[in-house]
Amino acid sequence: MATLVTGGAGYIGSHTVVALHEAGRDVVILDDFSNAPRLAVDAIRSLTRSDLPVEEGDAGDPQVLDAVFGRHRIGSVIHFAARKSVAESVRDPLGYYRSNLGSVMALAAAAVERDVERLVFSSSATVYGSTSALPVTEDSPTVPESPYGETKLMGERILADTAAVSEMSVISLRYFNPVGAHPSGLIGEDPSGEPANLVPRIMEVVAGRRDRLEVFGADYSTVDGTAVRDYVHVMDLAEGHVAALDTDMDPASSRVYNLGTGSGTTVLQVLAAASETIGSPIPYEMAERRPGDIEASWADCTRARDELGWQARRDLAQMLRDHWNFVRRQSLS
Ligand code: WQD
Repeated sequence: MATLVTGGAGYIGSHTVVALHEAGRDVVILDDFSNAPRLAVDAIRSLTRSDLPVEEGDAGDPQVLDAVFGRHRIGSVIHFAARKSVAESVRDPLGYYRSNLGSVMALAAAAVERDVERLVFSSSATVYGSTSALPVTEDSPTVPESPYGETKLMGERILADTAAVSEMSVISLRYFNPVGAHPSGLIGEDPSGEPANLVPRIMEVVAGRRDRLEVFGADYSTVDGTAVRDYVHVMDLAEGHVAALDTDMDPASSRVYNLGTGSGTTVLQVLAAASETIGSPIPYEMAERRPGDIEASWADCTRARDELGWQARRDLAQMLRDHWNFVRRQSLS
């Protein structure tokens, strides 16, 4: 039985497909390529040395799902396909609710109808908002502060309630800040359009596509005044998805897990680590806080360690080395 990976050509999806292949699982990718280049499929096939099946279409379209489930024997699903920009979700809330929740509901219905045993859902630490004490545990208050975060929390709830009246079990994984790339440099974060996240923007400065990094806020109550996040290597996240597929669970049950490193790093500390990685200083300027940003967030990942046997293994230096290696290869190709 294969694992259907929706959004499997995307950043975390493509790394998870590679990790699934390395774990000996058969994979089917479903992607509409709205936020992933088709070249990513070539890179995945080259990395896995396999002609794994790729279906093109919208994971929220019941007819697409019917066709995909009709063509492949699918026993499990990992659902990545979603719009994921916090800022865009504030500008277009209805578009986010329609697409992100529409795909969750369509996929949940198809999965139950086709007797899928395990569904893993790509959730996010943004479900916690800024009110949680630190470190954030899975029982911390969930108070999303954007429509994007709301779609992740509602998605978890829709899937948990669906699982409860089916034979399916559901795991929702709340990622903190994904960074890095496969060590080969063949796959990485390659979003369509302007990146908003810190490390892709740092890499744009390094690659000469941006003249300096703006540090959003220097007046936070942190060790150096800049905001703190829990940066986690995308390969660690990918391995967390394999662990979530493999773990034993009762049918009709659901569970949530934080995926992070358990430690926080400031913007300036990331910048310093990036300068160390590339061997030269990276120009930056202090700027105003970015609306909607929270001061600090990092994870308590005890539950994933104890129940999934998963822990992040790669440190910030490895994340930045691998991220820069991908960006450099991209600029040479
Ligand atoms: C990190 C820190 C910025 C850019 C977002 C989404 C979240 C998840 C991960 C999907 C913040 C600062 C950034 C820059 C800066 N995505 N920064 N200069 O906002 O923590 O999380 O991406 O699930 O949902 O909200 O990540 O990388 O945008 O910012 O100073 O040019 O870097 O202010 O403190 P964030 P980020």
